[in-house]
Parts: sequence; structure tokens; C-alpha cells
Amino acid sequence: MADARGSIHGEWSSGLVFILAATGSAVGLGNLWRFPYLVGENGGAAFVIIYLLCILLVGLPIMIAEITIGRQGRRSPINSLLAVSRDEGRSRYWSLLGWLGVAAGFLILSFYSVVGGWALFYVLQSLLGSFQGITADAAGELFETFVGSPVDVLIWHTLFMVILFGIIAAGVRKGLQRAVTLLMPLLFVILLLLVGYGMAASGAFQEAVAFMFQPDFSAVEPGTVLTAMGQAFFTLSLGMGAIMVYGAYLPRNESIPRSAGWIVGMDTGTALLAGLAIFPIVFAAGMEPGEGGPGLVFVTLPIVFGEISFGFALGILFFVLLSVAAVTSGMSLLEPATAYLTEQGGSRIRAAAIIAGLIWLLGIACGLSLNVWGDFHLLPGMNVFDALEFVSNDIMLPLGGLLIAIFVGWQMRVHSVARELGLSDESTGFQLWLFVTRFVAPAAVILVFLNALGLFGG
Ligand code: PHE
Repeated sequence: MADARGSIHGEWSSGLVFILAATGSAVGLGNLWRFPYLVGENGGAAFVIIYLLCILLVGLPIMIAEITIGRQGRRSPINSLLAVSRDEGRSRYWSLLGWLGVAAGFLILSFYSVVGGWALFYVLQSLLGSFQGITADAAGELFETFVGSPVDVLIWHTLFMVILFGIIAAGVRKGLQRAVTLLMPLLFVILLLLVGYGMAASGAFQEAVAFMFQPDFSAVEPGTVLTAMGQAFFTLSLGMGAIMVYGAYLPRNESIPRSAGWIVGMDTGTALLAGLAIFPIVFAAGMEPGEGGPGLVFVTLPIVFGEISFGFALGILFFVLLSVAAVTSGMSLLEPATAYLTEQGGSRIRAAAIIAGLIWLLGIACGLSLNVWGDFHLLPGMNVFDALEFVSNDIMLPLGGLLIAIFVGWQMRVHSVARELGLSDESTGFQLWLFVTRFVAPAAVILVFLNALGLFGG
């Protein structure tokens, strides 16, 4: 029975550690690297507003649903779905949803690790003082030269994967829990320092606020909405089992809705703060926010760190922040498949080595697609890196999320779900959540998909 089931991987020592771990998963390159450049490329405030709607109407309810499956199943996503569908008298084929997540995790981590490697490389550059007095052209060139060098990219990608392997191989308590309790406070302190500095020192704060919060909806295209929704899933780590597997290690008596509220709130806050920290800088430097693309934080920020007072220290802090955020997210991308393989027998160390090794290989293809394999297109107009990012973030995560909402909303018995959530099934809060999970979230995902296919004129 569900109640007697324990996690063979161990548990977080408290609900707070779960919140730290899940926030660590959510807050990552998605917030500090991807969100700012997507806002830039998609015209600012209209994108921000659609993104916030997706977070609230789709992300939050699905986060609660995903944790629910994990905590009832107490296993890797594949085996949790197997266990819960058995508890609830449903088809065992729901475990395929777990496989979809594992596949998405492979694809995402392969490009995530490449960018995580960039962040580590930039920590070194900041320590070496490479940004001191750097011109805009030189900053662009530093990035281009680095990304254009297969050897450099692969070295730092490898280092990033080795760090993740070390943490995951050590297990839930000694690896993951220790890493997040050490790194998350550091992350918050650095973030607050940087935002405080940005508000106090930058002249273009107003302009940045206007860019992020005064919408021009005429700039919105069908693809924009899909991008915003994909980003909502990506930034909350939803739809691939990362949050599910962390939920599997959550002690029984901790409140799922309350934890989910904290995680979503902190993730959204961090993304908005990152925007408010980065756009003033971009405007003050006379640059266009849409120009930078994936290089945005790697090119624009060094220019500023090279100019301003305390820039040397701030540069180090920022890239340490970026690296820490990337590591605590990368962990959660590696954990679902590792947990599954461990459950099939053999040691966790062996499982982590196999999974990390396979993802490392796929990551090599991503890294090389930025230079020597640049002309090879996996999808029309997209190199390997872009194609993996598009397929996993904009298709697989929303699809996984949709199926999670359907499973919890329609396949699990209402009283099982209410019990797992610690709510009475008649309470308003529960009824509201159930309604959104059953109708609003699935409808939103389906409409956005259809819209992106161009089925609504436009
Ligand atoms: N949420 C992470 C970020 O914003 C990325 C991620 C996606 C992590 C999916 C786990 C699962 O960077």
C-alpha cells in the first residue's frame, strides 16, 4: 500500500530541504541566462505577461500534481508511475510518461551541461581579470572564440558533468542534500548583493522596468506563446520527472501545496530579478536587448564588470552564482534516470556513471554543433544544440506536463490525491486546484500547441 512504501534512496531530512532542493532545481540557467534573452528576443513585456500567466495557470497546478505522484510512488518517475497506477487501478502504460521524462532529461542535460561549462569558464575568466577594461568588441570576441573552440567547450562541459556525477553518486543525503544546503544560501546571498547593486547604481533602471512591464501585444506571434509556455515548464523544471523524483524523497507529513507555492514564488522572483539586474546594464551600455541571443549574459555583463567600480568582485560573484545555479539544476536532470537504473539493481555509483557518461556523449554533439558541426542541421534551420533545446523545452516538457495533469486530475482517485495533499476533498482550495488541473491547465497546453501549429489563422 502507498502508506507503507518508503524510498529506497533515502529522504530529505525535512520539508525545508525539499524546498531548497526543488528551488535549486528550478532556479538555474533558465532564470539567469535563458529568460533575459528570450524576453529580449520576444519583445519584452508582452512575453513576460504571457509567461507569468503560464506559470500561474499551468505551472503551479502541475507542480503540485507532479510532487503528488512522486510522493505517493516514492521511486524514480518510471517506477513511481508504475506504482501509483497500480494503487489507483489504472493502466501500467502510464509508466511510459516516466520514460518520456527520462528522454527529455537526457536531451536537456546534454545542452545544459555545455552552457554550464561556459559558466564555469567565465568564473575562471573573472578571476583572471579578463574583463578589466574590456571593450564591447573584445567581449564579443572572447565569447565567440571560446564557443568556437571545440576543445575548450568540451573540457568545460566535461568538468561540469564530472561535478554532477560526484554529487549524484554520493546519494540523496550525502550528495544532493549536502550540495543544496551548502549552495542555496550562497546563491541567495549573491543574488541579493547583485540586485542591490543594480538598483543602487544603474541609471537605466526605469527603462528596464518599462521594457519588462509595459506590454505591446501587437508583437506577439503564435510562436511567442509556445516559447513562453516552454520557458514556464523549463524554468520550473516541470514535465520531465525532476520535481517528481525530488517529491519521492519528501517526508510524508510535509505539505505539498505550501512547498510548491514557495518553489514557484522563488523561481519567478529570481527570473524577474535577473531581468531587472541585466536589462538596465544592457540599456546603459547602449545595446539592444534582442541582439545578444544566447550570448547575452556572457557578452554584455563582462563589458559592465570591466567598467564599474567593484566590477572585478561583482563579476566573480555573478559567474559563481550562474555556476551554482546551473549545478543545482543539473543535479535534478541527472537524478531521475540514475534513480531508475539504481532501482533496477546495481549500485548508485554505477548507475550515475552510466547515465552521466551517455549524456556526456550527447553533450559532445551539442558542443561541436556550435563550431565544427555548425552547418549540420538536425531540424530545418536548427543545429543540434538548437534542435535539442526546441524539442525538449517546447514540446516534450509541455507534453509531459499535460499528461501529468491528466493522470493526477482524471486517473487518480480524488480521495487519494486529497490525502496526499493533506487537504479535505471538499475544501475550496482543493476544489480550485482540481478544477485548474483538470480543465484549465490541459486546455491551455493543447491550445498553445494548436496555435503554434498555425491552426488559428494568423
Ligand atoms: N529549471 C532549470 C532552469 O531553469 C532547468 C531544468 C529543467 C532543470 C528541467 C530540471 C528539469 O535552469
